[in-house]
Amino acid sequence: MERPSWVPDGVDVERPSAARVYDHYLGGLHNFAADRAMAAAAVADWPELPRIMQANRAFLRRAVRHLADQGIDQFLDIGSGIPTVGNVHEVAQAVRPDARVVYVDIDPVAVAHSRALLADDPRTGVVQADLVDVDGVLGAPATRSLLDLSRPVGLLVVALLHFVGDERRPADVLARYREALAPGSHLVISHASADGAPDRAGEHQSLYRRTATPMTMRTRDEVAGLLDGFTLVEPGLVFLPQWRPDDPSAPLTAPERFTGYAAVGRRD
Ligand SMILES: C[S@@+](CC[C@H](N)C(=O)[O-])C[C@H]1O[C@@H](n2cnc3c(N)ncnc32)[C@H](O)[C@@H]1O
Repeated sequence: MERPSWVPDGVDVERPSAARVYDHYLGGLHNFAADRAMAAAAVADWPELPRIMQANRAFLRRAVRHLADQGIDQFLDIGSGIPTVGNVHEVAQAVRPDARVVYVDIDPVAVAHSRALLADDPRTGVVQADLVDVDGVLGAPATRSLLDLSRPVGLLVVALLHFVGDERRPADVLARYREALAPGSHLVISHASADGAPDRAGEHQSLYRRTATPMTMRTRDEVAGLLDGFTLVEPGLVFLPQWRPDDPSAPLTAPERFTGYAAVGRRD
């Protein structure tokens, strides 16, 4: 059985992991036969899926580059998954070599892989925590030692909020982060929505029914509500490929089929 040296002890590579399935969609190398089989089954039902995941990841990279260009040199990436293909510290450090990144995820498999992959990088840290545990995330030893919360932070909550149901009050949670972070900090979000592809809403939800995390699709107004109190930077809340595309002159066909919204908001 394949078991490369980067796999931490105790991680079962014969059981699919949502984080490694996602890594496979992105073209990463941190996945196994069981993960690829689950990915193949989902793609058979929904051929656009890898393209949507890649569009989300491409948005994440563009947003991090934009914030680094604005002078932000510390990032808190919550719901980071496995730091894979074009991960946040690589993108940020390409602009600001001394940039520091704390990766946070609730999933012990993603966290174990992240710790193993980043063990030798002193400018990154890994925390296992739930987004809604604001004190736990901000007070974690890795957060406190790597990030200076009196200066602006790039807070990334990308492709995560649709796993946080309304009963967990995601808008209040984001407001608590906003209050805790210094003025000039920025929030980056993307969020699944069936607005542009109502025919695909069922697939989205059933895909994740196979994992421990049910999914809450939100409308544009509902996603905008999560951003209350932040000042949106241009171009505002848009479909994933429409947020500051690398080549603005390239034609974009049916951006709504990417079934996700993207936005960056500033904490004034
Ligand atoms: C689809 S992945 C997104 C990965 C990365 N942010 C990106 O957009 O490329 C969602 C991640 O959120 C994590 N997650 C789900 N609920 C969470 C929560 N309440 N707190 C922290 N992480 C969570 C999952 O374990 C998973 O790794």
